[in-house]
Amino acid sequence: MNKEYEKIQKAAKSIENRMPFKPDVAIVFGSGLSADIDGIKVIEKIPYNEIEGFPVSTVVGHSPELIFAEISGKKTVIMGGRVHFYEHGDVDKSVFGVRLMRYIGAKYLILTNAAGGINFSYDVGDIMIIKDHISTFIKSPLIGENIEEFGLRFPPMSDAYDKKLRELMKESAARCNINVKEGVYIQVTGPQFETPTEINFYRSIGADSVGMSTVMETIVAVHAGMRVCGLSTISNKAAGASDAAPNHEEVIETGKITSQKVAKLLFDFIAHLED
Ligand code: HPA
Repeated sequence: MNKEYEKIQKAAKSIENRMPFKPDVAIVFGSGLSADIDGIKVIEKIPYNEIEGFPVSTVVGHSPELIFAEISGKKTVIMGGRVHFYEHGDVDKSVFGVRLMRYIGAKYLILTNAAGGINFSYDVGDIMIIKDHISTFIKSPLIGENIEEFGLRFPPMSDAYDKKLRELMKESAARCNINVKEGVYIQVTGPQFETPTEINFYRSIGADSVGMSTVMETIVAVHAGMRVCGLSTISNKAAGASDAAPNHEEVIETGKITSQKVAKLLFDFIAHLED
């Protein structure tokens, strides 16, 4: 059997007795969001280091635990923090959590992140529904022996961010009176922020926001048959789009300020997901 698949199975086995339910919805929390927010009924928290083989994140502002919770009446599993590619340069580690959440039953995946705004019309604090992504400058997490148990060798990415879910998210935004943009997210490896020339280049090929996560997760999720929806919070203007250089403190700070707004949107969205 595929080695990576075996690892996922072992991880699932190691938490089998602590899982309160089989989740339907999986969420990855980007900077700013936490399970302390009102409206998240936490049932069980499992620290990553208590899950066999689970890679642990070292990034400030992330909470390294798998959270089982009820949100808007739906059975949900949440990654309180993600493991970024720049922490170790290992793609398998970056997507381990998403694969585990799929393995234990989740059909939907909601990805949230903090991103730099490339599109000149974007302001700090804006929320962007991810319409599509650019993965050209990162390593595909599907390189290597295909995990047949999850999906096809050559999976299409034509509707990676499920059109129906994007429509549903826009309806939620209208109900919640929250202004949202819709655009293309590009993942880069980081950890350094971009140069202004790189950002100009990404803009010229159609990117609206930039970040160091999410796309690898989307690719494995789509490969494994999940329906994906992604939200970027614009935490800063990308390099060259303003006079100030991006910095991590600003990313964390904006995340905290916008978390209530993102949570409100997510709660409404989840309430309207089909079972
Ligand atoms: N660039 C890359 N990743 C990011 C940024 C950025 O400006 N802001 C938040 N994550």
